[in-house]
Amino acid sequence: MRIPVIAGNWKLFKKTAQALQLVQDLAPLVKDVEDVEIIIAPSFTVLGPVRSLLFDSSISVAGQNCYWEEEGAFTGEISPGMLIDAGCSHVIIGHSERRQLFGETDENVNKKSKAAIRAGLTAIICIGETLQERESGETFTVLQRQISAALSNHSTSEMEQVILAYEPVWAIGTGKTARDDQAQEAHAFIRQLVAKLLTPTIADSLRILYGGSVKPDNIAGLMSQADIDGALVGGASLTAESFASIIRYGK
Ligand code: 13P
Repeated sequence: MRIPVIAGNWKLFKKTAQALQLVQDLAPLVKDVEDVEIIIAPSFTVLGPVRSLLFDSSISVAGQNCYWEEEGAFTGEISPGMLIDAGCSHVIIGHSERRQLFGETDENVNKKSKAAIRAGLTAIICIGETLQERESGETFTVLQRQISAALSNHSTSEMEQVILAYEPVWAIGTGKTARDDQAQEAHAFIRQLVAKLLTPTIADSLRILYGGSVKPDNIAGLMSQADIDGALVGGASLTAESFASIIRYGK
């Protein structure tokens, strides 16, 4: 039984006052939700204040990125242990914006994921093809490359701290969601691949989230697909009402 996960990636939005307001508005709207794991990923500077406000809430807090070293002369980086220190239980790794704009490679993603898990975080590892890759028929080759690299050397017990997020790059921030059947096809492929690379048992318990223009009006269709276990939400996680209605998709 895979518990659904709805995660909000706030990206480069919300300073302290706005972040705290959003959390204050969101928490009461989802207080009664017990069957969905809720995660928010604010920017680094507000992690501590947001976490403090959520002390009696089941909403978890995630970093949007981390480095693979725990400490040292790495100006501008943040370590997994620092995220835990700020109250995080999760971290997003390998988001397509990190890959495209900040040169993150499959190898970096693997190192970050290993380090995050070692420190005790759950890694939400992002994968997904660009429009060009989809149109040239390379979707599954790209997913295979990203997944084999990201999960390389992950043991069975480490996999308990992994969530995958399939985010087709062409659907991010564009208003173009993948059709339910398109998303399901990719998710089924990912699960079968994990079964082959690791074990069927790991694949069966792995949560695979969909991300890319998820909104209150398309979440139910996506969640009705057999291999979609949740969503990684960008824009629609920035207002309490829309994020709460995504979280409450089944209600
Ligand atoms: P949007 O929901 O704004 O398309 O962003 C998706 C995303 O990148 C989540 O990580």
